[in-house]
Amino acid sequence: MNKPEYIKTQIFLDSGDPAETKILFEKLGFLDGQTTNPSLVAKNPEIQKLKNDGVLTNESIWVEYNKVANDIKNIIPSGSISVEVYSDDATSFETMCEQGRILSKWFSGIYVKLPITHTGISVAKVLVSEGINVNMTLCFSQDQAAAVHSATKGAKKGQVYVSPFVGRLDDIGIYGLDLIGNILKMYKEWGSHVSVLGASIRSIDHVNYCLKNEAEIITAPLALWIKWEEEGRLLKLPSDLIISVTDKKQIDYLELEQKNWEEYNIKHDLTDKGLEKFATDWKSLFSK
Ligand code: G3P
Repeated sequence: MNKPEYIKTQIFLDSGDPAETKILFEKLGFLDGQTTNPSLVAKNPEIQKLKNDGVLTNESIWVEYNKVANDIKNIIPSGSISVEVYSDDATSFETMCEQGRILSKWFSGIYVKLPITHTGISVAKVLVSEGINVNMTLCFSQDQAAAVHSATKGAKKGQVYVSPFVGRLDDIGIYGLDLIGNILKMYKEWGSHVSVLGASIRSIDHVNYCLKNEAEIITAPLALWIKWEEEGRLLKLPSDLIISVTDKKQIDYLELEQKNWEEYNIKHDLTDKGLEKFATDWKSLFSK
């Protein structure tokens, strides 16, 4: 079927496997885009096979990632596709900038994922000024989202995404959906150019919340989208969706001022941990 007009949120698949893109595209009849990250690409069955054969190197893995991105692009040619830079504590501004430029040339319209760290935001500022699309990932606080807005001012609407990670806040007993709600509210008040992309989405409640509150984008794994479709939720008006009451700790909305991005507190433990995990999964591919 065509995407129902009442669903304003763009529906993305969160996966590093083009075989899953094909399955979901055929199941839904539409797919607005796909997000990948180092951990998801590391799980791709063909890349796993190359890893087990011991043939991957720090260079060849990028050739494989490029193939994965292009295979996804062939299935959803007009879809928005995000690919992520490699980043760890030692990655310099210059290296990340150069890598972002290389990824941006894989095909037109691609989004370069950068972490919300001091280096990542500094790079985003430059890449956005060069007309490159960016997806600022591992967002765990309203301050981080404010910094993304402030650093990328002047970007075109749709050129910058911010990806709040809902499930990983839930994991530590915090109601992650509040982060999405708070960022949407702040961006609305500020008339922001940044699009909110709900990420680390793990449950139907997470999906319902993003649809009901009209987050611009939501990305979720294949199994969750299949469950969602098979339960007939595609046919429900977002305004009729019900979200379960939570017993998790809620996040207060902050009345933040608009200021220079470097004045926000962008440090977050979960961003650091997330980066470490991405780097470990990536390096495991060619460490044999
Ligand atoms: O969209 C980000 C996602 O890939 C992370 O999800 O479940 O590992 O927290 P998760």
